[in-house]
Parts: sequence; C-alpha cells; structure tokens
Amino acid sequence: MANKGFRKDFLWGGATAANQMEGAYNEGGKGLTIADISPGGKQRMPLMFSGMPLEIDESKYTYPNHKGIDFYHRYKEDIALFAEMGFKTFRMSISWARIFPKGNETEPNEAGLAYYENVIDELLKHGIEPTITISHYETPLHLVKEYGGWKNKELIGFFEKYARTILERFGKKVTYWMTFNEINTGLMGSFFSTAMREATEQENYQALHNQFVASSLATKIAKEVNPEIQMGCMSIYATMYSYDSDPVNVQATQTKNRMFNYFCNDLQVRGEYPSYALAYFAEKGIEVEMTEEELETIRNYTVDYLSFSYYMSATLSVSPEHQDEKSQGNFFGGVKNPFLQASDWGWEIDPIGLRVALSDLYGRYGVPLYISENGLGAVDTPDENYVINDDYRIDYLEKHMAEMKKAVVLDGVDLMAYTPWGCIDLVSASTGEMSKRYGFIYVDLDDEGNGDMSRHKKKSFDWYKEIIATNGETI
Ligand code: BG6
Repeated sequence: MANKGFRKDFLWGGATAANQMEGAYNEGGKGLTIADISPGGKQRMPLMFSGMPLEIDESKYTYPNHKGIDFYHRYKEDIALFAEMGFKTFRMSISWARIFPKGNETEPNEAGLAYYENVIDELLKHGIEPTITISHYETPLHLVKEYGGWKNKELIGFFEKYARTILERFGKKVTYWMTFNEINTGLMGSFFSTAMREATEQENYQALHNQFVASSLATKIAKEVNPEIQMGCMSIYATMYSYDSDPVNVQATQTKNRMFNYFCNDLQVRGEYPSYALAYFAEKGIEVEMTEEELETIRNYTVDYLSFSYYMSATLSVSPEHQDEKSQGNFFGGVKNPFLQASDWGWEIDPIGLRVALSDLYGRYGVPLYISENGLGAVDTPDENYVINDDYRIDYLEKHMAEMKKAVVLDGVDLMAYTPWGCIDLVSASTGEMSKRYGFIYVDLDDEGNGDMSRHKKKSFDWYKEIIATNGETI
C-alpha cells in the first residue's frame, strides 16, 4: 500500500555534537580532543586540511568549543525545551575523551559515564529517545600525538574498547546509535574525521579502512549487548549534477559521485569493497593494509540503517570554460549552479536535491534512511526582547521537508527520522563561529564569547512544534 505521509513512529528531532555544545572542555576528568585545539575563525578550515597545531595557543587563537553553549551544565533546561517542541529523538554524541581521557586507558572515567547517564535519563524522562553518535569529530588528542591518528591500526582496538564501554553501559536504554560522523570526509583528509594532520591519499584510505573495521566491531558489540539496537552509518551526501550534458562532464560527475556518495556506504551497508574502488586503488598504486579477518568483520556486521547529512548539492564540470565561477563554500570542488541561491556562507540551497538524494540512496541500498543533519546556517538578529523572526529558516526547512514528503509518498522511500542540525544554536564546525546559527533556540553568545548564554525561542520554535505535533501533515 502506498504511503500517505511519514511513518507513525517517525523520529522528529534535532542534532548536535558534544564538542560543539557541551563546553566544560577540561571538567569532569575529560581529556583534550582534536576539537579542543581547533581555533575559531576562518583559519580553521584550511588548518583542518593541513597542519593543525596540536597545542592550545591562546595568545594567537580563540577556542569557542571550550565553553560551547555550556550544555554540560544546562542540559536540563535545554532538554525541557526540546521536549516542549515535542522531539521524539535527540541526536547527540558522546565525547570519547570524557570516557577515556587519552583514548587508550585501561579503565574508563566514571565521571564521564555518570554525566552521560544523567543526560540520557533526562531525555528518557521526557519521552525523547536519544540517538548517539559514538564519534563526532572528537578523537582524543593523545591518539593523534602518540599514534598519528586513524591511519594507525591500534586505534581500532582503542575505539572498540570505548564503544564496548558505552554500549554496555547505555545499550539497554538507547536504541539508536551511529558510529562515525560524516565518515566520507576522511576521503578528503579532514583532520576532524581521521585525526591526521597531513596525509597522503593512501593514508586517507587506510584511515577509512580502519574506521570501517572499528564501525563493524561496534555493531557486533551492540548486537551482543542488545539485539534491539539499531546501528547506523553516517556520511555527508551532496547530490551531484553534471553542469551540462557533455558526456565528458557526465562521466566525471559519475566518478566523483560514486567515490564521495557511495564508497563508504557501500562498505558499511553492503559490507564489501566495491569493484570501482579496487580498480582505483590498483590504478593509483594505493595499497591499503587489510586482513581477511577484517574483511570478514566488515562483511558480517553491516549497519541497520543509513544516515546522512544534507546541506547542499554540488555541480561539476571539467570543462575549462566553466571554472571561472566556483561555488563558494563548496568543498567538493564544484562550479556555481546558475539555478540555485546560496546561504550567507555560500552553501547552495537545493531542496529538490534532497528528494533526489533520498530516492537515490533508497534505490541503491534498500535500508531505512535517517536524515541526521540538514539546516540553514544564518545570522539571527534579536530585538531588545529577544524576538527573532527567522522566516528564512522556516522557509528553508519547509521546502526541504516538502521534498522529504514527496520522496516518501511519491517515490516510496522508507524514511525513519529527520533531525535538523543545531536545533539549539551551537559552535560551527567549519569556522568555530557562534554567528552561524541553525537553531530553533537562540543562545545569547557571540563570536568573541560575550553574552549571558540565556536561551530564547525563535519563531521557528513554535513552527517546528506544530510540524511535529501533526507528524508533518501540514507540509
Ligand atoms: C556537518 C557536521 O558537517 O555540518 C556538523 O557534522 C556541523 O558537526 C554541520 O556543525 C554544519 O556545519 P557548520 O560548519 O556550519 O557548523
């Protein structure tokens, strides 16, 4: 029977990450993570791709993640607001370094476990199911300094222990989990993803392989702890268009698309290295160290659902005459799409691209899909009473939701969840700014750290509440 709308048990909610909201970076026995040494401002993105300094240097940089939005101390107030909006789920991450401060200790830090236990219990008390990302750009710094990040196979064992610790502790009360956030950013050598300061292409693929094994081991543990657990993978999806119908561009787009949008999902959902990747390795002389046992683990412990973040599409061309106008903010190497408007940060807004993404992924993999991030980063200007009429955000989200609904109703996609990014304003991952806001809830804090951190509902707060209450019927 055809779907009339979203599933009855559809998980409406919001998404966050520990390092971007908790603050308290050195409290409760927590160790430093890669996010803690990443400076705020425009320099962050270039440093993320080559040579991030590994020490905190307050004489030179600011570190907005250190205090985040102080969710660590204010989580009860924030969760009450999420409950008021009617959230069914709240996507959060556990910071590895709160549990194992250096990443490789033999015993976990009980204060860290107790903190997350309290947060989870608070969510459950309000009827909100947590969705937990095990690793969201938060590898402990010590593992970078001593082991060189994810290219080192020793990290698999450290991660396995961390995953076992939190799954054994929380796996009976938390059903939805994800292993690595935006794992495919590792293809581009993102420091946040692979915790490697500088890397060759071979090292990027080695790091990814090690994460595939680690992810599968976490899935194995999850099923042992509680067979009801639903484990997901998580990657960025950018719908890719050829700039024109020149077959040369169409073919180049196909190549880019399968490596960026499919490669990691092929491993994590299908459990096999795809033939196009093996051909690419052979052609480039890339030799990824992989054992038969690791490949068997990847094959045997695939994920239950596929989650992805979707912010923009990418338009590609290899023709020299199209290279003049690069799409700003598009790190996929795309050119400007003449049909799309961009956000203030240059991210091209493309709601129809989300329908294409959903249809494409469901057609290829046939597992339930979870949109774990989507949203508009924008400047909000409150008046003296903190009134914020963020119609631009409502417009963005409404258009994306309408396309989601078409994907469900007209294309037959099994969509299980939608958690817009930064449901409460938090620190931006790419720039460390507070001024790039996504939330339904405004936090009084600016880029320089001024503000009393008070929370205020934006216009979109009540709008989203209504969407959830009617299970999207009004879209
Ligand atoms: C995703 C990340 O890339 O996009 C989040 O998973 C991030 O951590 C989000 O915050 C939005 O990006 P930004 O740079 O605007 O914060």
